[in-house]
Amino acid sequence: MTTDRLNSIRKAFSDRFSGEPSFVVRAPGRVNIIGEHTDYNEGFVLPCALSFDVLLAVRPRADDTVALLSTNFSGETSFPVDDVEKSGPKWAHYIKGVAVAMREAGYSLRGMDAVVEGDVPLGSGLSSSAALEVAACAAFKRVAGLDIPGPEMAQICKRAENDFVGVASGIMDQFISAVGEAGHALFLDCRDLSYEQIPFDVESAGLRLVIADTAKRRSLTEGVYNQRVAECAEAVKLLSQFIPGIHSLRDVSFDQFQLHQPHLPEIIRKRARHVISENARVLGAVDALRAGSFEGLGALLNASHESLRNDYACTGHHLDAMVEESRQIPGVLGSRMTGAGFGGCTVSLVKESSLDQFLTTVPEKYTERTGLVPTLYVVTPQGGAGLV
Ligand code: GLA
Repeated sequence: MTTDRLNSIRKAFSDRFSGEPSFVVRAPGRVNIIGEHTDYNEGFVLPCALSFDVLLAVRPRADDTVALLSTNFSGETSFPVDDVEKSGPKWAHYIKGVAVAMREAGYSLRGMDAVVEGDVPLGSGLSSSAALEVAACAAFKRVAGLDIPGPEMAQICKRAENDFVGVASGIMDQFISAVGEAGHALFLDCRDLSYEQIPFDVESAGLRLVIADTAKRRSLTEGVYNQRVAECAEAVKLLSQFIPGIHSLRDVSFDQFQLHQPHLPEIIRKRARHVISENARVLGAVDALRAGSFEGLGALLNASHESLRNDYACTGHHLDAMVEESRQIPGVLGSRMTGAGFGGCTVSLVKESSLDQFLTTVPEKYTERTGLVPTLYVVTPQGGAGLV
C-alpha cells in the first residue's frame, strides 16, 4: 500500500466529511496457491494474502448512522447500523452484510463516517469482496472498541457473504484476509479452522510467483458457483447411503470414493473426484514446501488445474489458454487457475531466469489466442488485515 493511496483516501475523507479520519484500516485480497473448491467441502486450502487491498478511512460518529463513500464507484449511501436493508449500491451490501452478521453474533455497533477505496482487481478471482468485508469488520470492531480475533472476523464475514450477499462461498478468502502473514502461505483446515503459517519464500529459491489476470470477468453470484456447491452436497447425500455418517466430501477417502463411485451420476462423480483428490494435493503441497521442493509443488499446481478443467469444469477457454501458454515457457515449474474459476486469474511458479521471457511472451501468445489483453503481477505474500 503506497503513501499516495493513503494520502488520497485521507483527502477524499476530508473533502466529503471535513476534518481528518481517526484511523485507516486495510484488508488484503488473496491468491490461492492450491486447494480450490475444497473450503466449502470442509477441506484444505493454501492461500497467501496479497499487497492488493481495500482501505477504509474511518471516523466514529455520535449517532448510529453509517455514512459511506466509495472512491471506486460513484455514489454514497448511509444506513442506521441497527436497521439494515438490502438496498442501495451493490458495493455497500458487503459492508451492510458485515454489520448484520456482527449484530447477529451479539456485538453492539456504533455509527461511523467512512471512505472506501480498493485496488484489488474486481471480478478477477483475487477476493475483492472478502477484502471489503474484512476491512469493514475491522472498522466496525475498532469504532465499537471490540476485541474480535481474526478467525472469528472471518466467520462473521463469511456469514455476510452467504446470508446477505447470497453467495454460498467457503471461508478461505475471509480467513486469509484476516490472518495472513507476510512471507507465508496459510495452511487452513476448513473443517475445524485450525491453521498453520507455512514459510513461503519463493525468491530465496530463485523463483517468482506470477498472477496472470485473463481479463475474462466472472461474477460469483451468476449461479454456477452455487451450482457446484449443490453438486458437492448431492455427492455427499448419495455417498452417505454407502458410507454412513459422512458430513462432507472431506470425510470420504480416495479408496472409499473408488469403491462407491460407480453408483454416482457422471457429473456428481467428477465433482467429488476433484474435491477428494484436491485435498490430497494440498497435503502434498505442504509436504513439498516443508521439504523445500518447489518442483514437487509445481507438479501439484499442474495436476490441480487438470482436475479443475476435466472434473470440476470451472476453467474455460481463457484460463486454459493462459495456463497452456505459461507452461510453454521453460523454467515454469507449474501453472493453474486460482480462485473460483470461470474466468479470473492464473498463478504460476516461474524461475527468476525465465521471468522476463514469461512476462513478455505469455501475454502476447494469450492475446493472439483470445483477443484479450491480460495483466500480469509478480507477487509476494503479505500480512492480513490491520491498522495502516
Ligand atoms: C471463491 C470462494 C472461496 C472458494 C474459492 C474456490 O473464491 O469465495 O470460498 O470456494 O472460490 O476455491
